[in-house]
Amino acid sequence: MTKQTATLQLPGQEAIELPIIKGSAGNDVIDISKLGAAGYFTYDPGFLATASCESAITYIDGDKGILQHRGYPIDQLAEKSDYLEVCFLLLNGHLPDKDDFNKFHHVVLHHTMIHEQLAKLYQGFRRDSHPMAIMCGVVGALSAFYHDSLDITNEQHREIAAYRLISKMPTLAAMSYKYSNGQPFIYPDNKLSYAGNFLKMMFAVPCEDYVVNPVLERAMDKIFILHADHEQNASTSTVRLAGSSGANPFACIAAGIASLWGPAHGGANEACLNMLEQIETVENIPEFIRKAKDKNDPFRLMGFGHRVYKNHDPRATVMRNACHEVLNDLKIDDPLLDVARELERIALEDPYFIEKKLYPNVDFYSGIILKAMGIPKSMFTVIFAVSRTAGWISHWKEMLDQPGQRIGRPRQLYTGEVDLHFDPVDDRCS
Ligand code: SDX
Repeated sequence: MTKQTATLQLPGQEAIELPIIKGSAGNDVIDISKLGAAGYFTYDPGFLATASCESAITYIDGDKGILQHRGYPIDQLAEKSDYLEVCFLLLNGHLPDKDDFNKFHHVVLHHTMIHEQLAKLYQGFRRDSHPMAIMCGVVGALSAFYHDSLDITNEQHREIAAYRLISKMPTLAAMSYKYSNGQPFIYPDNKLSYAGNFLKMMFAVPCEDYVVNPVLERAMDKIFILHADHEQNASTSTVRLAGSSGANPFACIAAGIASLWGPAHGGANEACLNMLEQIETVENIPEFIRKAKDKNDPFRLMGFGHRVYKNHDPRATVMRNACHEVLNDLKIDDPLLDVARELERIALEDPYFIEKKLYPNVDFYSGIILKAMGIPKSMFTVIFAVSRTAGWISHWKEMLDQPGQRIGRPRQLYTGEVDLHFDPVDDRCS
């Protein structure tokens, strides 16, 4: 089949033929690498129309509200799989057979402990530190403990580092919560499931038995699945860029955690619950809708809108159903859920939100379900980071596995001063 090209006519130059590269789904791309030689860069702040890489991990169709991991629709994975199987799928590109399934579960569930010296690092933080601040620190510090898996050119080292991160993130996360409330750290219990172990490390205390609630365990695992990966979002792109310089995987994941923390990204779940608490009653909703539409008001509806989804975020749909299940099972009547449902209804009927295609995203309902599960708001984004570690490290691995991988180094449109003459301070007129 003849290769398609895009013809670009630049002022005073011969037309340039730019190759069009076809993907298996979604937009094809125009290879612009020739533009530099013609004296031009492309300009796309925020990367609205820029593909930074080739990937086979996750496909999103924002207009149709489609999200697939290695070709499997997210609603099927959320209903039929478990988080560790999704981790295997993201990392390896295919679902495991029964033997691989059991082996992967066993490896991950038996590497959950962290070095006792790393536990001492928590003592350096203030007790009222935000758990995400602690996670940025302790995850980066993993590279100070695992010198045996830092050779990123070694495929086995890459695999060991990936498994270690998936295994240990729940332990580090639960420790950041225990440290903030003054309770002793709870060691992992390898007899439990990934989600069950996390809940026990979060909520058990040494002086009492702890029995995992199967409703919470299933909801937690589903939340982990729904947040596992999402194409080239801000934090995943951060991990890829950090990894392109050859930085070790633990430092790259710490960079991803820092990027995820922003309220426009993974911090939106905590911000959304704060917003619902600020709205407080259904009667107050119209005022907040007005503020969200006011160009002069920086307020935005947290949990609404998305760079890619211009239709429903398929994760939000699964999350909404899980939210109802958990609240019904736990017999919780949370007025915030009523506020959320009414806010969603009003916003989806409002011309502003319709025109701008602003729909509830994954963060809209996750805060309510996490609150119902007893998770404190400050831990919402930490849970997002635990889950997204699977996606981050899968993209990191995919990037390093690709032949010809190079350091990421974007260019710029320079609009500053040029060719100024320097005068020493004593000679400068004030
Ligand atoms: C995540 O990228 C990913 O995949 C991320 C994520 C993942 O899994 O990794 O899906 C997770 O980060 C979900 C998004 C969570 N963030 C929020 O819920 C915060 C609130 N949402 C907005 O901040 C915003 O919608 C973004 C950041 C999500 C998207 O920003 P864009 O794509 O840059 O869109 P924009 O800011 O240019 O908005 C377009 C228009 C603007 O109006 P105009 O300037 O065109 O007049 O829509 C308006 C915005 O003012 N708008 C909103 C709005 N979101 C966008 N107005 C009110 N409330 C909102 N929430």
